[in-house]
This record gives sequence, structure tokens and C-alpha cells, in this order.
Amino acid sequence: LATAVLASCTPAPPRYLTATSSPVRKAETARGGTGRVTRVELTAAPTELDLAGTTASTWSFGAVPAPTIRLSAGDTLHATIHNRLPTDTSVHWHGVALRDDMDGVPGLTQKPIASGEDFDYEFVAANPGTYWFHPHVGPQLDRGLYGALIVDDPHEPLSYDDEWVVILDDWLDGVTGTPDQVLKELSGGMGGMMSGGGGHMMMGARSELLGGDAGDVAYPYFLVNGRPAADPETFSSASGKRVRIRFINAGGDTAFRVGLGGHRLTVTHSDGFPVTPVDTDAILIGMGERYDAIVTLADGVFPLVAAAEGKGAAAFALVRTASGQAPRTTASIPELTRSVLTADKLTADPSVILRKRPVDRELTATLSGSMMAYDWAINGHRFDPSNPLAGALGVKQGERVRLRIVNTTQMWHPFHLHGHTYQHAGPGPRKDTSIVLPGRSLTVEFDADNPGRWAAHCHNIYHAEAGMMTVLGYQ
Ligand code: C2O
Ligand code: CU
Repeated sequence: LATAVLASCTPAPPRYLTATSSPVRKAETARGGTGRVTRVELTAAPTELDLAGTTASTWSFGAVPAPTIRLSAGDTLHATIHNRLPTDTSVHWHGVALRDDMDGVPGLTQKPIASGEDFDYEFVAANPGTYWFHPHVGPQLDRGLYGALIVDDPHEPLSYDDEWVVILDDWLDGVTGTPDQVLKELSGGMGGMMSGGGGHMMMGARSELLGGDAGDVAYPYFLVNGRPAADPETFSSASGKRVRIRFINAGGDTAFRVGLGGHRLTVTHSDGFPVTPVDTDAILIGMGERYDAIVTLADGVFPLVAAAEGKGAAAFALVRTASGQAPRTTASIPELTRSVLTADKLTADPSVILRKRPVDRELTATLSGSMMAYDWAINGHRFDPSNPLAGALGVKQGERVRLRIVNTTQMWHPFHLHGHTYQHAGPGPRKDTSIVLPGRSLTVEFDADNPGRWAAHCHNIYHAEAGMMTVLGYQ
């Protein structure tokens, strides 16, 4: 219905560039690159996951998470995907400003990879940073199909002794249902709940930090690097070492508040881009966001706790620099309530602050919908995969774009734009995924320098699937 109303009052949409058009190829050529190629193979297939003695069946790229992919800025990644799932899939390289035809969004940038088929992704990763990858088909990422993609900076100004990748996840597949079942239950809204469904629906769990409902889904497991709290991931190092921790929230419906017992964290990067360093006790990380932090390790055994915000549970890992008894699994540590860093407290590092220039185009993405109806939408339009360009936001190559993301709902949303790293007004941090609080708005700016068709959506995977997704299209 929203589509019909919109269609009747909007002029015919402009023609947007296709993913394989010559401007897309030109932009890739302009990225240049080192010419070095890193080759990886990923097989998406049914997997057994060991959860502290309980075996669960799920889907993964061989393991949860997939092995980390690593390259140096300017290198080309050549990734061959073997789809051995019983259904279509794809791989999206979250946060990477890459060529549009390699962005992994079926219906927009490529055909889905059918069951039994293979697909080669090949692109230059120009910007260093902490990225990750996951399918862009249904709520598949919530099964465990994800991994980290680290693009190293050959001229890294930071010095540290060790590096850990910490991937946080909320996880249920094969335990109490599949993400597809959950999506169905949620899509029935509260109505479905009353009539007996809704076994996974969160009710009345609120988060003060997020200003409302904590999330939609109650999960039985929260994982760090695929490990449950009862059999925790353990990071070993030595007292006095400086460690760079790359935090990635791969969850489907959970913000994590993460901290390391007995330590302060110095946040150095937001979504892969450097910020003016800020010290904090904890960090709030929405789905799809990444933060890098430096920590100087003390002597002992310490809990790394990622509280599932407002959900009364936590993902848990151990940091060990000495022998001794491991602390007990806990859902909280004092650090989590002392000081919590959110993106609005950050400033982009001078090396990545957008050059000041007049704004050429103003766009608005108004987020709407309710838990009751589960009718999540952008600009009054629920995304329709069979007509993906309906309601698209148009830009022209070379423009400075100001985008206002207006949240009219009573729930928070992690908004994600593909193919670009915008800057929060201020100048705030450079990011590609940002928490927008209920009833609030967020203004960001970016340069339209990556032609193509780019998905822009809520990274609550259930909201995106229910329709909170649109397209940024280059005319
Ligand atoms: Cu991780 Cu379209 O996103
Ligand atoms: Cu959302």
C-alpha cells in the first residue's frame, strides 16, 4: 500500500547506474592498488557447532566465525565462494568501499549464488581497517555465516605488541529454532504473539542507554568468536603488553556493552577509520559496528564481558597474562557501568576528516514502523526485493551529500550504508554503521565517489528483512 501511494505522487525514478556500468569499472581502476592478490576460498555449508559439549547444527563458512581474512591496503581480494547450502546465498563485504558489482547484494548488484554453485569476488580493498563479511540473503548471518576481514595499514602509526579479533554474536540456530522461523514469528507482530507464536520475542526488556526496547529476539546463546560463556575463548599474552583489540558485532538483534575487567580501553578506530583516541571503561557496539581499542595488560586472569544490552545475559571470554584461577562467568563487571563510550563522543582523526566543502545534496532517510505491526520501513516504503529501486535515494557522482537519518520509531536502529564511510556531523567519527536512538536523528556527510547501487538499511537483520532497507543510487 505504501508503495502504491508513493508511486502515485513521485515522478518516474531516474535511471540508476548498473553494477557493471563503465563508471563502476572506472572507479575501480582509479583505486589503483598494489597489484598483489590475496586468494581465499570460502565454503558455505551446514556445520556442527560445539557449544560446551552440546552439538548444534547450523550453517557457516567452515567454522563460526570463518577464519579471518587479512590483506594489506591496496591489495586485491580474490574470494571464491562455494555455496553448499540448500539455498541461495551471497557474500557482502561490510564497510569496504569496493566496486559495486562485488558488493554481494542479490537483486541489486549480482544474481544470488544458487545452491551448488560457485562465485568469485574480486576487488581492491583501498582503505585499511576492521571489516567483516556475511551473506546478504535473508537472516542468514544470524546462523553463523560471518567472519572478520582485516585490511592492514602498511604505514600504521599505532604501535602494539599483539592483536586480537573479538567477534560478538547472539546465536540461536539449531538450538531453539532458525532465524527464518524467528523472522516469521516476528513478522506476525504482537498479533502472532497473542495467537501462540512469538516464542523468541523479547517483551519489556529495556535498555536505558538505547532509550527503549533492547531488541526483538531472546537468544539462548551469546558468543565470543563462536564460543559460549561455559567454554570461553581465551586470549593469552603477558603483563605489560599493549594489545590492539578489534571488536566486531556480528549479532542479528543485540547491542553489546563490552569491557575488560580491571582495564581501561583506549578507542582508536570506529568502523575501521582512526579517531582521536578516547579512554573508556566500556564501549557500546550496535550490530554491524566495529571499534578498535588499545589496552595495556595487567598481571592476572581477567573477564572480557560483552553484556547483551538490556537482555540480562552476556558473551564472555578470558584474558590471561598469568597462571591462576579463571574468574567465574559473569553477566557484568564494574567497568560496564563506569563509563560507556558511544560514537557521539568521538572525533575523526585529522587524517580522515572530510575536507570542508558546500553540500550539494540533502537526503533524508526516515525510519518508521513498530514492534506491534513489524512494518519497519524507510521513507514510508517497505523494501521490495522484486522492485529494489522503488523509493531509492538518488545522488550524482562527485556530490557532497548530507544525509539525515530520522528515527520516528520507539526503538533504536543501527543504520548501515554500503560502499561509503560517512562522517558524523561535528566533525564526528567516520563510520558506515551508526546507532540512531528512538525519536532522534543523526546527520552524516559523505562524498559520492563510488558509483553504483548501494543498499542502505537497518542492521537489525530482522528489521532489514521486514523492509527497513533502501537503495542509494547513482544517476
Ligand atoms: Cu552488514 Cu547490508 O550489511
Ligand atoms: Cu532497526
